[in-house]
Amino acid sequence: MDYNTIIEPFRIHTVQAIDLPDLEAREAALERAGNNLFGLHADEVIIDLLTDSGTGAMSSEQWAGMMRGDETYAGSRSFFRFEEAVQNITGFDHVIPTHQGRAAEKILFSVAVKDGDVVPNNTHFDTTRANVEYQGAEARDIVIPGGTDPATILPFKGNMDIGALRETIAEVGVENVPLVMITVTNNSGGGQPVSMANLREARDVCDEYGIPFFLDACRFAENAWFIKTREDGYADSTPMEIAQEMFSYADGATMSAKKDGLGNIGGFLALNNSTWAQEARNLLILTEGFPTYGGLAGYDLEALAVGLMEVLDENYLRYRIRSTEYLAETVLAGGMPIVQPPGGHAVYLDAAALLPHVPPHQYPAQSLAIELYRAGGVRGVEIGTVMFGRRDPDGGPDEPAAMELVRLAIPRRTYTQSHIDYVAEVVIDVASRAEELGGYEIVEQAPWLRHFTARLKRL
Ligand code: F0G
Repeated sequence: MDYNTIIEPFRIHTVQAIDLPDLEAREAALERAGNNLFGLHADEVIIDLLTDSGTGAMSSEQWAGMMRGDETYAGSRSFFRFEEAVQNITGFDHVIPTHQGRAAEKILFSVAVKDGDVVPNNTHFDTTRANVEYQGAEARDIVIPGGTDPATILPFKGNMDIGALRETIAEVGVENVPLVMITVTNNSGGGQPVSMANLREARDVCDEYGIPFFLDACRFAENAWFIKTREDGYADSTPMEIAQEMFSYADGATMSAKKDGLGNIGGFLALNNSTWAQEARNLLILTEGFPTYGGLAGYDLEALAVGLMEVLDENYLRYRIRSTEYLAETVLAGGMPIVQPPGGHAVYLDAAALLPHVPPHQYPAQSLAIELYRAGGVRGVEIGTVMFGRRDPDGGPDEPAAMELVRLAIPRRTYTQSHIDYVAEVVIDVASRAEELGGYEIVEQAPWLRHFTARLKRL
């Protein structure tokens, strides 16, 4: 093609109406939800950028696959198609389906991690951290130094700090590091990619010490596209070849197929270690289901088998990464500070930079997320001190999170450019009124993963 516009590489086949609640209705919804956007109902939201997880549109090929779904309890045909797709991409010996990513995490860490262990990761996602901590282990984030600075522009800002990995192993002892994990792309650090060189280096360190190396692979295809377009030597490789090489450095992976599986539900644990796989299957039977369906219907496995291939299509990935970048460029030009460069699945607004008058223990990112909803019905998610801060046991201010971000995650193949233009208009309007935004306090919270259910009050 000789033209510059990168179009949505699909046409719309089925549509769903969006509700358009007015300002009064949105304010009432906030009141009811205790200023927690997780408490909103779908019909109270105009554009929903809460998550890119399970919120994408499936293709007609995926729906056709669902009609082929084989609901045999044990040994379903759909499982073998799913297994083949996963093995084609990852090369791992054992493929264990789960109902979503966190179930794979729970099972892997139950098998591999014990009390007192330390699990290094570039940055743990919230469920990954919680599942490591649930085993009594420490979830240690060791992203490269620029990785937590929103303004630092680096091509692979999700890379693990390999020096810090060595230091961690030396400090806690190799016997207390049951596995090393790298999250691609680094969701909690801004959706930032990890380079092939970094994966290779991590592999080398793991080989040196005999430590298993796992990927948290939710957004492996987006990561592959960044490698193709940013890392020397990969411009002529296909996303599939790049993905295969990424997985070749790992001993296993956990995956939420609700992201780059292009599914509405599903996940897997895939690995080479037969002993761990056997233990994982035993646990799977206890909590998820028989190993050839793992908490999914046969038709889900079919949809994922197709989705895992579609996600590696170059036209799709070019459009996907460009549409995220387009939102980022537009809001940045309009005065909203963001994490640079934009990530693959989301634009992360930098609330600390926008709202210097709101201290971290008054939750600036929550304040920004609330105002985006109040003003324009746009729902993002706080990734700041509400999500990752540590509560002071004596009732003092929380220990702040590394960054105060609002993530606008873009569901796959769901919104058009005019939806994104509307979002940009709302974001730019809120940025222009930053001084009107104030702090919040938490009035109710759960002992873990508090961000899902906490209630907040404006100060
Ligand atoms: N790992 C990463 C990097 C994730 O982003 C997620 C989910 C998970 C693991 C857990 O997967 O939800 O299928 O159990 N992230 C979603 C999000 C929820 O909004 O970023 P799950």
